[in-house]
Amino acid sequence: MKEIIVTASPNIAFIKYWGKKQTEGDENKNLPLNPSISLTLSKAQTTAILRESNEFQFFVQGQIASEKDQQKLKDHLRRVEKFLGKNLSPFRLDSSNNFPTGTGIASSASSFAALTTAFLTWELGKEKVQDLLKNEPEMIADLARRGSGSACRSLHGPFVEWWEKSIRIHASNWKLYDTIVIFSKKEKKVSSTEGHTFATLSPLFPKRLEEVPGRLAKIKEAIQEKNLQKLGPLLETEAEQMHTIMRENPHPVEYQLPETKQFLKELKRVQGRDFFYTLDAGPNAHVISERPIKKEMQALLDKLGLDADIWEDEVGFGPTIR
Ligand code: PMV
Repeated sequence: MKEIIVTASPNIAFIKYWGKKQTEGDENKNLPLNPSISLTLSKAQTTAILRESNEFQFFVQGQIASEKDQQKLKDHLRRVEKFLGKNLSPFRLDSSNNFPTGTGIASSASSFAALTTAFLTWELGKEKVQDLLKNEPEMIADLARRGSGSACRSLHGPFVEWWEKSIRIHASNWKLYDTIVIFSKKEKKVSSTEGHTFATLSPLFPKRLEEVPGRLAKIKEAIQEKNLQKLGPLLETEAEQMHTIMRENPHPVEYQLPETKQFLKELKRVQGRDFFYTLDAGPNAHVISERPIKKEMQALLDKLGLDADIWEDEVGFGPTIR
């Protein structure tokens, strides 16, 4: 029986994609208002399995997909079919994550990276898709982006820059860790779709757009130099700016929990630290380091009497087709 298995990992943005252009037409979906750059992870994974079937069936986390998810999956299938210029033969899709969804670990990025790669592989085969990923990265990135913007940065690693319809892969052997301190596994109340819209309404948003290119240039320098002491403060400024923009907003959103704030305050007090945090649109802290730091993070939590799960992740290089 024909079977395709693809895994892809989320990415954590060093410069956030936060605010999208108001555009028309599917080709122009999810175009960012600023360039972004991220670190692709490897241990957190979405696995998409496609198996021959009499009709298309979509399962997410072992259950029939919700109507909303069915629609998104069908739309993405149609998009890939249009790109290929033909209809795909029916399959059952089983998509599952090995990490909690909706909590600031970007599950939509890994999902749409895995799905795009899997749908294409169903028709074109593993070698052809591996060849496309390597030699025509923009083509697949363009499809994945339309499913979920940040998905285009999960198709490669270790560092992927994205601006408009283009991506740029920054090769590096810098071994970075992302230790994710999970204060809540609940789905966030404000979806990233709403968040993107609200962000642009903040009076602080225009200043952010002015500042991002300079910060991005410095982050790229730090990556090239493998200089964590240079990278770290830039990551923290970027994350704080994103969260401030959401607070100082006609639709104020507080993504952090009291525990997040307590934890970050304590983390910043560590003398001569060699770890730095970033945040996504959620309450969980992503702590970036050059060595495993789970024990230190647990000690900080214990000191504060806080309860949290810790997910240890590290640099990755994009989807695997089995
Ligand atoms: O791809 P979306 O629409 O889920 O946007 C996610 C945006 C952030 O994860 C919050 C930031 C980023 O650049 O990944």
